[in-house]
Amino acid sequence: MKIFNTINEFNLAKENLTNLTFVPTMGNLHAGHTSLIDFAKETGNIVISTIYVNKLQFNDINDFNNYPKTLNNDIKLLEDHGCDYLLIPDKSILENIASIKAPTKSQKLCGKNRPGHFDGVLTILKKLFDIIEPKIVVFGMKDYQQFIIVKDFINNNNLNINIIGLKTIRETSGLALSSRNNLLSTKNKNLASILYQTLKDIETNKVSICPDLLNLKIDYLNSCGFKVDYLTSCDEESLEECFDIHNKNLLLAVAASIGGVRLIDNIVLTKL
Ligand code: PAF
Repeated sequence: MKIFNTINEFNLAKENLTNLTFVPTMGNLHAGHTSLIDFAKETGNIVISTIYVNKLQFNDINDFNNYPKTLNNDIKLLEDHGCDYLLIPDKSILENIASIKAPTKSQKLCGKNRPGHFDGVLTILKKLFDIIEPKIVVFGMKDYQQFIIVKDFINNNNLNINIIGLKTIRETSGLALSSRNNLLSTKNKNLASILYQTLKDIETNKVSICPDLLNLKIDYLNSCGFKVDYLTSCDEESLEECFDIHNKNLLLAVAASIGGVRLIDNIVLTKL
């Protein structure tokens, strides 16, 4: 794998790099990320990944400072999965960066308590798209809202990029893989699987999905030691609250902290 440690270095080589499939990351890679690389390889394109912990998308400086950094291990994982290029942007990425304001759906779900988060995500991704000019970009669907917001951005700006979202990879307990799982104590990691179990439990009872059912589940999660940020059923595209399972698929999404570690998860409930 060829590693570019600066954007300048990448730009010098770029002429020869066409047909790229891009997997953007913030590092601390796990099987969720490598599943994206594996898929990217199947596209038949050259695969490029980036590792950049994007300060612009953190609204809590401690969260940013504590973000796990495991560069040597990340490089090994990328190499093992056949990634062709890794760009580790230097701070020049922020020079003359155009700030992007995410649309109103960015204020729902995770955006409610993380103001500016999706502005930061779009701002850095637009810059990375301009630098890399990928044909395909691959994301994990654990960050469902991120996927929808980036997909809309690509479509609304007629960017010539095909965006692909891949299913969440889970531990056997059901816990969605996340870099943040490394910050959980063993006890809280065991408890954390309750989040997915709760989503699946609601799925089993989806015929009666309603605000009261979700409120009961929020109370239950809080009683297990979580601090629930949201547990919502909404339209898959607009992310507007919706319970109309007879007429459309619904996104069931949750964000909750345990031991100060914020976790998110979601499943799609197929219409009845
Ligand atoms: O999902 C992530 O890891 C980040 O939000 C991304 C897409 C790499 C942008 O910084």
